[in-house]
Amino acid sequence: DWTAKNIVEDSVASIREQIGDKHVICGLSGGVDSAVAAALVQKAVGDQLTCVFVDHGLLRKGEAEQVERDYVAATGVDLKVVEAADQFLDALAGVIDPEQKRKIIGREFIRTFEAAARQVVGEHSHDGEVEFLVQGTLYPDVVESGGGEGAANIKSHHNVGGLPEDLQFKLVEPLRTLFKDEVRAVGEQLGLPAEIVWRQPFPGPGLGIRIIGEVTRDRLAILQEADAIARAELSAAGLDREIWQFPVVLLADVRSVGVQGDGRTYGHPIVLRPVTSEDAMTADWGRLPYDVLEKISTRITNEVREVNRVVVDITSKPPGTIEWE
Ligand code: XMP
Repeated sequence: DWTAKNIVEDSVASIREQIGDKHVICGLSGGVDSAVAAALVQKAVGDQLTCVFVDHGLLRKGEAEQVERDYVAATGVDLKVVEAADQFLDALAGVIDPEQKRKIIGREFIRTFEAAARQVVGEHSHDGEVEFLVQGTLYPDVVESGGGEGAANIKSHHNVGGLPEDLQFKLVEPLRTLFKDEVRAVGEQLGLPAEIVWRQPFPGPGLGIRIIGEVTRDRLAILQEADAIARAELSAAGLDREIWQFPVVLLADVRSVGVQGDGRTYGHPIVLRPVTSEDAMTADWGRLPYDVLEKISTRITNEVREVNRVVVDITSKPPGTIEWE
């Protein structure tokens, strides 16, 4: 019968059988799927697994540390961190177009992951034997693949893929039969940090597509602060699990006049985009209580110097998409 404990036991057994004594690689994104998939494989084959985490600098505040410190502490995985923020930001310099941003981030990601994977294979492979790559594919992805992945027709979603011919892996997909809520139950069973297990969906290109305008280090820092405040207040209000996603967007090329203390300011607006949804294909704007909105607005404008205005996006999808870019 279905319990998280049984699922863990069954998948550990079949992962062991599939991998044998080979080495296996897993890319961690900070999201729940790759985190649970890797934790299952770690439980099955221990140090035959190397996880690769590309820190592209576009994650939310504290998320890189959650992977590098808390996740490693909870699972004991062998983690290879690639600090690539400078490389990604250099590549994004001057770029404004959303699709262009996605392409660049996707390309840099593959490039970086590939280099790291080659190193891991070099260190662990026995005479060029084929090794394994873990993917956090879920049941709904399996069912849909054929038809693509939903919004993929509108925006080019990027995933780990597109590795060159000479660097091919056999896939290990321990979540192939599971739905999202089951993945979370397995994550809890494995003792993963709640911040990771209950993380809301987050786009691969990260905050890069939540800064409207060029992505720079300064702008990222502003958005990370504002986003951290919005997330903290949503959690404090106990609304995490009712809200499907809560993008916080920096209108970096827009300025408006404000007044703070005895001075006139000329700062940037932040957009709050809480949405409710079942599957991200359609969405409604999330009716956050006024007192929660007020708290978020007050804190952001008090604590983030460059922001002097907070607005709420009340557009459903369609016609709006969940993300602004
Ligand atoms: P939209 O903005 O199209 O987003 O309503 C639908 C869902 O997809 C996520 N999203 C992405 N995920 N790479 C991803 O991995 C992307 O480029 C990307 N763009 C949007 C979005 O957060 C929402 O969950």
